[in-house]
Amino acid sequence: MVIATSREELSAARQNMRGQIGFAPTMGALHAGHLSLIERAKKENDFVALSIYVNPTQFGAGEDFARYPRKKEADIALCRAAGVDLLFMPENLYGANEPIVCAPLIGASILEGEIRRGHFDGVLTIVTKLFNLIKPMRAYFGKKDAQQLWLIQNMVKSFFMDIEIVACETTRENNGLALSSRNAYLSKSEKTDALKLSRSLFEASRLIKKNETKTAAIVAAILDILQPLKVDYIAIVDREFNALETIKKGETIILIAARVGATRLIDNMWI
Ligand code: PAJ
Repeated sequence: MVIATSREELSAARQNMRGQIGFAPTMGALHAGHLSLIERAKKENDFVALSIYVNPTQFGAGEDFARYPRKKEADIALCRAAGVDLLFMPENLYGANEPIVCAPLIGASILEGEIRRGHFDGVLTIVTKLFNLIKPMRAYFGKKDAQQLWLIQNMVKSFFMDIEIVACETTRENNGLALSSRNAYLSKSEKTDALKLSRSLFEASRLIKKNETKTAAIVAAILDILQPLKVDYIAIVDREFNALETIKKGETIILIAARVGATRLIDNMWI
């Protein structure tokens, strides 16, 4: 595995990789969810590249940028064991007075975008920079961050970027909890509370299997299970993120965001 920490090292390593490159951008503190992206990329490409960069521009004031978990040595070991060919861990990818990529208003102002103003501009800007540096043929993203995935797919299409975006299933603990680097913030009792998110989504899926179609009834059932957590949103949307009144099987995503203590968690289920 080549570790590149500068653009020069990256470009030297990249020149030796002739063939299809699958790329997974991450912010580190790697877990089995990230590893599932690597596994998929390995199957579909000649080489796998992974980046670790805690991107400052996607964190709002008062968010967890400073305390976001950084686990450099453990991450390097995990990448090596998982068979990553190129690990890009840059110090800084920004200069002064730069243009940014702006997420479209509708996508950036709902759900995560409404609560985290400017977040998706930061995500799209860094993903564009990373795509231009790594030059992958395919890039792997988790459905766990469904709105991010949708906005990246939209950007790639709109800017005619010649990259295939591969959507990967959410990896969960056996108890249902969606893996997230931010789970590291949870105490033992908070981890039990955090299970309410996945439990409420499994209940929603059970109701839909029993032919409940009204989204208002499903939202109410989810809210019931999430109590007493502070819920930021429960949304039931189609694949273009339009709110739905009735479930359309094969076209629906149920998304929730809730706070467990000081930690903000998101989860979703694709129906
Ligand atoms: P990060 O949160 O580190 O996630 C990196 C990738 O792993 C994303 O595509 C995310 O959706 C995916 N992922 C996270 N948890 C997952 C899980 N439980 N199962 C499957 N995939 C999972 O998302 C980011 O970083 C950043 O916004 C980034 C795209 C790197 C831009 O800075």
